[in-house]
Amino acid sequence: MKDKIQSLLEEIKAFKAENNEQLEKFRIRLLSKKGVITGLFTEFKNVPKEHRKEFGRVLNELKNKAQEKVNFLRDELEDVKTADKSDKDLTLPVDFIELGTLHPLSIVRNKIIDIFTRIGFTVAEGPEIEDDFHNFTALNFPEEHPARDMQDTFFIEKDPDIALRTHTSSVQVRAMETTKPPIREIYPGRVFRNEAISARAHCIFHQIEGLYIDKNVSFADLKQTLFYFAKEFFGENTKTRFRPSYFPFTEPSAEMDISCNICGGKGCNICKYVGWVEILGCGMVDPNVLENCRIDSKKYTGFAFGMGIERITMLKYRIEDIRLFFENDLRFLKQFKSAF
Ligand code: PHE
Repeated sequence: MKDKIQSLLEEIKAFKAENNEQLEKFRIRLLSKKGVITGLFTEFKNVPKEHRKEFGRVLNELKNKAQEKVNFLRDELEDVKTADKSDKDLTLPVDFIELGTLHPLSIVRNKIIDIFTRIGFTVAEGPEIEDDFHNFTALNFPEEHPARDMQDTFFIEKDPDIALRTHTSSVQVRAMETTKPPIREIYPGRVFRNEAISARAHCIFHQIEGLYIDKNVSFADLKQTLFYFAKEFFGENTKTRFRPSYFPFTEPSAEMDISCNICGGKGCNICKYVGWVEILGCGMVDPNVLENCRIDSKKYTGFAFGMGIERITMLKYRIEDIRLFFENDLRFLKQFKSAF
């Protein structure tokens, strides 16, 4: 009996299966109802009482070993099968991994960049955490000047004043300080204002500003550049108009409207029945600003403009609530898969 058990243990240890049939034969021979191990249990009655306990333990161990071996080989064969499949059949479909999509603000930012780079503008970026000089003082907002109320911000530090930038005009200052004209650049980036959040305003938003400085740059250049942009972005039939406005850093200053892209200028609830919607601020760079940035204002002139990417995106896609851009709701974001 002992020899029999010993030889079975060795057989179990040495056994290898090349396929499921061989494994199944092995299982049936040892573990089925009529199998060798089951047969050994019927010998129980012939074993003297005092040895039965030990006999039972040894037999159970044998049975477990056999079962473990079967399980192990079954897993192994399963692994080989799946590995084989992927190795051999190259036409099988791969597991589908869903790619993300660009955020609508990125889509629109890229489109705007694309339009301006076609006419010779290059892209530059600057820090979101700015000092007072680059965000305000250099741009003709002296300390205590009421113009500062137009752009309330988040101060991080006082004396020296460090704040989150309220516009990317701060990057224009950095460009003028370090580049000898001609300068023809656009400045995309995130900006911050201390405003109550609503459907139309947010304390974080994105801008693209632009700057063109050279000899003899005039308001006509500004108008034609922005007219070109409006037509490229909103469509060939888009009309533009300029209304006088005020910014501390430009003189003269204007706001540019486009004919309402929803109703074509006839009047609807988006344009509040006037047929026009405002899309950006612009103007000729104030000579003081040029001098603050060490550019000779007798030799050079320039224009600047700035627009909110959220605003442009809302007009383009008829989005009515600015908060949607920041909520990461996939039902909203997935709609922009094939836009542009
Ligand atoms: N910096 C202005 C703003 O954020 C926009 C602007 C830029 C206006 C350049 C005129 C010229 O409101």
